[in-house]
Formats: sequence, structure tokens, C-alpha cells
Amino acid sequence: MSERQLGFSRRQVLAFGGAFGLLTAGGLASAAALAHRPAGTGALLRSAIALPPAFQVPLPRPQVLAPVSTAGGVDRYEITQREAVAEILPGVRTPVWTYGGSFPGPTIEARRGRPTVVTHRNELPVPTVVHLHGGRTPAESDGYPTDLVLPGSWTESGGHHHGGGMADPRAVQSRVVREYTFPNEQRATMLWYHDHRMDFTAPAIWRGLAGLHIIRDDREKELELPDGERELPLVITDRAFRADGSLDYPSLDPGLRDRPGVQEPYMAGVLGDVILVNGAPWPVHEVAAVRHRLRVLNASNARHYELEAVDQDGRALELVQIGADQGLLAAPVTHRRLPLAPAERYDLLVDFGTVPVGGTVRLRNRLGSGRTREVMAFRVVRAQREDTRVPSAPATDLPPWRREDAVRTREFAFRAGKMGEGHGWLIGGRPFDPAREDVSVRLGDVEVWRLIADVHHPVHLHLVGFRILSRGGRAPLPHDAGLKDTVSLRPGEAAEIITGFDGYRGRYLFHCHNAEHEDMGMMANLEVR
Ligand code: C2O
Ligand code: CU
Ligand code: CU
Repeated sequence: MSERQLGFSRRQVLAFGGAFGLLTAGGLASAAALAHRPAGTGALLRSAIALPPAFQVPLPRPQVLAPVSTAGGVDRYEITQREAVAEILPGVRTPVWTYGGSFPGPTIEARRGRPTVVTHRNELPVPTVVHLHGGRTPAESDGYPTDLVLPGSWTESGGHHHGGGMADPRAVQSRVVREYTFPNEQRATMLWYHDHRMDFTAPAIWRGLAGLHIIRDDREKELELPDGERELPLVITDRAFRADGSLDYPSLDPGLRDRPGVQEPYMAGVLGDVILVNGAPWPVHEVAAVRHRLRVLNASNARHYELEAVDQDGRALELVQIGADQGLLAAPVTHRRLPLAPAERYDLLVDFGTVPVGGTVRLRNRLGSGRTREVMAFRVVRAQREDTRVPSAPATDLPPWRREDAVRTREFAFRAGKMGEGHGWLIGGRPFDPAREDVSVRLGDVEVWRLIADVHHPVHLHLVGFRILSRGGRAPLPHDAGLKDTVSLRPGEAAEIITGFDGYRGRYLFHCHNAEHEDMGMMANLEVR
């Protein structure tokens, strides 16, 4: 799709305005702006409905999906994408877009090396495409944004190309059904699947199209980590609600058919004023006074968190990190505060045995204000004998890449800039175009990438995991440890990452995972040859 073929609908929506007050057009944030680095990038959308008190709704656990077949060494699943009505706020009906009727979608549990095949059926009113975030996936199942599954009744309207992706000659489209194959040939970790439709990913995720995909292996089992009830996936999102209970979102086209983009004040990102964990507002969960494994995902479009777990006396519990986006760490890292950018995951051990029975631990967001400072609460309700420990060396299989292994260093600037007649979010000065090749790498090559940001940009690479080599010219931060697939660039910051492009050849992507930035240009093609 060339810039011209995008038509003016996209350019029109990218009018530049107040949300970018920090920036000079096309340039980096000014030194003055950096001096008081903002805690986030985005604008708050306020709910028009009464919000429930915190810590009343029990924490839901996303249900684990049962395979329809396990024959032939493959686990097969079927998921129907459809509209449903969820009770997110107590007593309030909220229409959502779902994987299989629930928000978040069902969790897929996978074994390393045992393939998962998921047949997705699209009964939603718009095209969709599924991407397994963090998955080492063959390109044809990676959910390229124009590889759309069209609804049965879908017709192109108004001469726009966004729904059909007709201007991308390599797009592989289907009607209603598509089968995705995930080999799960990768380290044990918690991945997530979500919609990735060209220009409309942000509103589709906001409406509910996200779920977990957990890969397990023998190594992880040997560690005897807290499991069962003591292993808690926590999908953290923010949302806003209209007076009628529906989800609010500032789309220019509420039908998400033709005209992409959001209203101008929200172009830097949409922030909600309600914090949901596993689809419940500020939930509460009863725990025994023992170590728990918290598997945290920030599935918010644009909101950043800095998590802390504070007990009733105001003491911050240790958040013992044993894993990152792409699996277990070589050594645990203890945090009192943990930054969490969109799409990042952390594998944490938290010992509620340090809290007296009857005590409460609140998970808080230090970057929030007012009610968005709270995330959820744990009530410690009973004693229990501890039978787990913190592994001193969770993993021994981290890739050994060193800087001198890199055959090439590349540099990419992530910044606001001119896009058509308006402005958008650009990588290396250009907005996304599926028809253009941006980066071509050789299968097996190790490369160093230097990523530079104006405002916050959580940068994500498909196909690979990487290690963070440096941040702001210094050593990485404690939470940068391990194998990552998303690196959170802070305003004015440059970071270096190192990765080896193994796995599969084909067309992949890298992009900002602020979902609004992603939809408004900040994505690029990565061809593995
Ligand atoms: Cu979770 Cu291409 O993204
Ligand atoms: Cu991804
Ligand atoms: Cu961004």
C-alpha cells in the first residue's frame, strides 16, 4: 500500500495538535521536556459511568481452553471470534469482542516442542488477524497485518483499502476461517495472542481481542515453582466506559470499517480510568500465606505501570523476578518497584508468608493518579506450609550473544513526524507500508540494533527474543534482565539490543507496542532471508 493508495482518510486523521505539545515536528523532545520526563505517553479518557469501589470483585482466572484433539503429537484448538456481553463492572452489561466469548480470551497451555494448531473463526463484523506475541512462528501463521480473515459478509466500501488490504500483493487472506500453527519450539514462557489488523489493532485489542498462551517445559518443572492455585496469570489493562456501560474509545470510525485513527487529543495513546486485571475492575484475591508466582502481562494499549506490592503497614514486598518476556532468567532479580510497559511480561515470585494472616497486600501503580494508582489487592486468609523456594539459577540456556558476534549494527529512530499532509508516528522517518521492505536480515545472523525514542515507545520485534545491551549509553536497568521481545524506550532515550535471527525465513515486523502509535504508522517490515 503506497502512501497515495492509503488515500486521504489516513492522512486526514493524523492532524497534529496539542497531544504533541512536547515535540517539535519530526524532532526529538526538547531538553526542557526531558528534564521532567513524563511518566507516560497518552491522554486519559474518562468514564461516564459510576465506577465500583476497589477490591470488591473477585479476581477471575482466564479459563484454560480444552483442545478438540491431541492426536498425532499436535494439540488442536478452535476459537470463534464473536461479540459477547460481559459483566465487567458489577451489574453493568458491556458489549465486547471476544475470543470464544470471554474477555480476556481463553488461555492456551502448550508444551515446548509440541505444536499447537488453532483454527480461528471470525464471526465479528470486521476483518481480523491473530498474532501470537513472542511466538517463534512461521511467517504464514505470524499474523501479518494484511493477512486478514474476512467476515462472511464483508464487502469493501467507500474505495478504501484498509479492510481488504488489496494493495498488498503478498497478503494471504481468507474468508471466515484460518488455521494458525504455533510450533512452540522455544523457551518456556507466557506469551499472548491478540488481534493485529492493519490500522485497527488498538481498538480491536481494547474491545477485548487478547488472550494468554503459556509454554511449559521440563526445566521449569524441575524448579518446583508455585503452581496450581499459587500460579496467577495477571492480565492488566485499562479501559473507559460510557454511561450505557459500553467500552468507550475515541475511534474516528466507531464501526472500525474504513477510517482508522483516533480523535486528535488521543493520538499519543488512549489511557482508561478503570484498571482491570483479568477483565475485572480493581479485583481482590484471597491467598494463603505462602510464595505465589505472578505472571504479569501489561495488555494495555498505552498505559505504563510501575508496580509495587504494599502491605497494610505500607511496606513494599519484594518482587522477585525469575523470568522476562521470553522466559526464565539466569539469576533472579529482586525489585521493590517494577516498570511495566505495554506488551511486557514479568514472571514474579511474591512471598505472602511475610504478611500476617488477615493482612492485605495492594498491588499499586506508582505512575497512576487517583484511582489508577490502584491495580488489585491480595487478602492473606490462611497459613500454609511453604514447600517452594526461589531458584538461584532459574535458567542456564540463555543465548550467548556478545557484541562482537554482531555482523551489523543498525539504528532506528522512533519519533513523531510528518505523514502525508498531517503527522503520525514514524520509524526512521517513514510510516508503515506493507509493500516496502525496510530491513532484510540473513537467517542466523546476529545483529545489534540501536533504538532511539522521542517519547515513550515500547519497541517489539516479532520472531525473536533479544537482550538489552545498553540504555542511555549505560548498563541496562535491573528489569531489563533476561530474554525480551519488547523494550521500553523512555523519552529521549536510546537503547541497544542484540539478537540472532533464527527460526524461520519470511516477512515479519517490528513496531511500537503503544497500540495507537502502531496503528498510526509506527511499524516496519523485517524480512528474514
Ligand atoms: Cu504484540 Cu506485533 O505484536
Ligand atoms: Cu509480536
Ligand atoms: Cu510508540
